[in-house]
Amino acid sequence: MYIGLDLGTSGLKAVLTDDHQAILAEATAPLEVQRPASGWSEQNPSDWLRAAEAVMAELGAGQDLGAVRGIGLSGQMHGATLIDKAGDVLRPCILWNDTRAYAEAAQMDADPAWREISGNIVFAGFTAPKVAWVRAHEPETFARCDRILLPKDYLRYWLTGEAVSEMSDAAGTSWLDTGARDWSDRLLAKSGLSRAQMPRLVEGSDVSGELRPELAKRWGLAAGVVVAGGAGDNAASAVGMGVVNPGQAFLSLGTSGVLFAASGAYQPDAPSAVHTFCHALPGAWHQMGVILACTDALNWYARLVQSDAQTLTAGLGALQAPSETVFLPYLGGERTPHNDPAARGAFAGLGHATDRSAGTRAVLEGISFAFADCHDALRSTGTQIDSLVAVGGGSRSDHWLQMLATVLDLPVDVPAAGDFGGAFGAARLGQMAATGAGAEIATPPPVDRRIDPDTKLQAAFSDAHARYRAVYSALKEAL
Ligand code: XUL
Repeated sequence: MYIGLDLGTSGLKAVLTDDHQAILAEATAPLEVQRPASGWSEQNPSDWLRAAEAVMAELGAGQDLGAVRGIGLSGQMHGATLIDKAGDVLRPCILWNDTRAYAEAAQMDADPAWREISGNIVFAGFTAPKVAWVRAHEPETFARCDRILLPKDYLRYWLTGEAVSEMSDAAGTSWLDTGARDWSDRLLAKSGLSRAQMPRLVEGSDVSGELRPELAKRWGLAAGVVVAGGAGDNAASAVGMGVVNPGQAFLSLGTSGVLFAASGAYQPDAPSAVHTFCHALPGAWHQMGVILACTDALNWYARLVQSDAQTLTAGLGALQAPSETVFLPYLGGERTPHNDPAARGAFAGLGHATDRSAGTRAVLEGISFAFADCHDALRSTGTQIDSLVAVGGGSRSDHWLQMLATVLDLPVDVPAAGDFGGAFGAARLGQMAATGAGAEIATPPPVDRRIDPDTKLQAAFSDAHARYRAVYSALKEAL
């Protein structure tokens, strides 16, 4: 048996799998986000530990966990958890969607060394600019900081007593030499830090430590259960969905949206605003385009028209030619392809005939075009996508999937019912660490249905995409 723990933003999820990767049990504990100021987004790491206790108790209540051999970890990326010499947390963790460090990020990004070594733009949401913000605004906290841990690595620190990270999540800090899969002393020094303040690095499928005996006893696990390196949530989901070889990709239609492609080699192209990170398996990398408001934008519109996303999308029927209205989904800034934390959303081309349903279509189209921009950015780096699996809440709408297939000019596969997300991928990494298995156990899920592009509508959608881009260019300075 194996356990996968996925420390998400809105909850911590656990899955228990057997030796054949069948899911035996699942448990989730909710988490809250604190927003003490505009653009801030924080969580208290003690809440993560409470959530972990809750899910482990729930798993243990229904199952005998004595046969568990490995645990894998997945987690929200980029968060900065600062701890002191005694291992105590110095301030709430600053999360991936916190934009307070935009000025620090821009300043760092202007120094070419960051892009050259890390392979990525220094985005405001990444870890290094957040720590620069702490250094500037909370100097006493920075002075007491003994170690900086990513969210799931803080969870690991508590589970095992070891300060360890792994390559996929470490790549989202801006301090990793992503091609060399090692911390960059040069970039750390620019932040006033050294390697001694960073966790030790392992691969996602390696052993990072053993579960502390006290916790094993409390939860009914045997002695010597190994904890795998694990992965950032996107790389862990990729392991869960078998997206581990070049050509394979997934589209995550969640709060934020991710177009994730596995790649066999390190091929960074920072100016494209594509994220080039290590994959969770040795010798592999991946690229992703990240849009900050995916279902978040649809839910925003649903609230505005006093409805809910499901009701709005269910009423749309078959895909039709694009609406006259253009919607820009940049409600809280955008990462790929604009790297523009100040960007904001817009409706353009409204007419007397624009009603709630036309607005819904415009919102879905705008998000789809944002994904098309990510696809173009990935292609510009030489990354080729042959097949695409759709996951996340948005994948429940066939109308939207048909639109995405048409706009991206790619068939979209929908997995059969089941959970193939970060927690399942983490359980697979736990199994790899415990047994020495590798990528061969990261197989794709069974496909329920394939949705092909609607070729008759492709020209119209391509024209609408061009209009969408023109609207952003025209409004950029005004937004
Ligand atoms: C990826 C990113 C998000 C978080 C969400 O760069 O910021 O997908 O990992 O958990």
